[in-house]
Amino acid sequence: MTKGWTKSDWRAKPRTQMPDYADQAALHAVEAQLAKYPPLVFAGEARKLKKQLALAAEGKAFLLQGGDCAESFAEFSADNIRDTFRVMLQMAVVLTYGAKVPVIKVGRMAGQFAKPRSAPTEVINGVELPSYKGDIINGFEATLEARLPDPQRMLQAYTQAAASLNLLRAFSTGGFADIHRVHSWTLGFAEHDKAERYRELSNRISDALDFMNAAGVNADTAHTLSTVDFYTSHEALLLEYEEALCRIDSITGLPVAGSGHMIWIGDRTRQPDGAHVEFCRGVQNPIGLKCGPSTTAEDLKVLMAKLNPTNEPGRLTLIARFGAGKVGENLPRLIKTVQAEGANVVWSCDPMHGNTIKSSTGYKTRPFDSVLREVREFFAIHKAEGTVPGGVHFEMTGKDVTECTGGLRAVTDEDLSDRYHTACDPRLNASQALELAFLVAEELTTLRQIDRRVAL
Ligand code: PEP
Ligand code: CO
Repeated sequence: MTKGWTKSDWRAKPRTQMPDYADQAALHAVEAQLAKYPPLVFAGEARKLKKQLALAAEGKAFLLQGGDCAESFAEFSADNIRDTFRVMLQMAVVLTYGAKVPVIKVGRMAGQFAKPRSAPTEVINGVELPSYKGDIINGFEATLEARLPDPQRMLQAYTQAAASLNLLRAFSTGGFADIHRVHSWTLGFAEHDKAERYRELSNRISDALDFMNAAGVNADTAHTLSTVDFYTSHEALLLEYEEALCRIDSITGLPVAGSGHMIWIGDRTRQPDGAHVEFCRGVQNPIGLKCGPSTTAEDLKVLMAKLNPTNEPGRLTLIARFGAGKVGENLPRLIKTVQAEGANVVWSCDPMHGNTIKSSTGYKTRPFDSVLREVREFFAIHKAEGTVPGGVHFEMTGKDVTECTGGLRAVTDEDLSDRYHTACDPRLNASQALELAFLVAEELTTLRQIDRRVAL
């Protein structure tokens, strides 16, 4: 698949959204240093994730991908990592119960630093400045100095990603992820007086756990109840960084992105002949491809052929992000293309990026109801087409931020200023994220009931 490909071939292709570093010598020094550092992930883990994603393509597993829009240096703390990890585990238990299949947990974590922007500059207090591109590229502070791209930031991003991954690995196997503990937090959520709708499902999970415990299946006898596989992912936007961390897998002899388990190509950088597709096509990791309203059937056909020429199951996840009310006019066209090509893909739904609006109070926000509506449209279209909704992709945090409106605690436009902490796009807070997991679990339960009737 990667015959004749080298990790620097992208340099000869048109690039978009990447910074122009003024000091090339400083850039080269950083690249040389990163190239000597250990990779953050082991190729065997990326292959294992790919196998699990192959099951999601068939409806035998379900992908939960979530985390910050942009990780930041300032917000880096053990508490933040723990809280996002915790809510993802809670969501995974609820989704597992709804889908009755394993949930593949992939964080937008430990490397999600580089951001594409809609414009190269922005005006802040009457001054035009280069746009903030994520902490791995430039600083958030509204000064020209902070906004100049600085290659040294790549080293800090690497260090932060390594430390984050270290903690995530410890949480995954060290006892934190015990399913009984995770579910006890969810029971706390379901006690909220407006959470009545979710109480029944969480009580049913309690019953299932009690039953297993009585039958002798508990954390002491079954290690799958106390440990999890947790994977990392990010948008592979900053290709100098990706190239520097690209390694040859000692087992297969094939190139692998060492920066995270799964990488994705954003909606703004998916040009079939562009630099980002060129880099991603050569590494053996699972690849995500964001598909927005401007994705044509022809684009998708070419992209699938480039990114997965051998039609390897689990290699390609198509992440649909059209916006509520727009799924019906866009998704069927892409599903038909996938079917016509006989392509093996995981269909995932990102209900965040097509639903960003400006609140009456001036904040960039996303209404919970629009997010939910897009998810429901995604499920409905797959049901109508007889195809598999294989996963969801959320921007979320474990903290009680006020960035998206709505949800059972009803964040209003006026509340947004209370705890609006994101460095980029608005995230679901812990309560909104868990509520959404319950609602997706309801969709999955319905699907399973339909499948069962078909099977009978
Ligand atoms: C993102 O996932 O943060 C993002 C920028 O998404 P998209 O490429 O779909 O706009
Ligand atoms: Co975003």
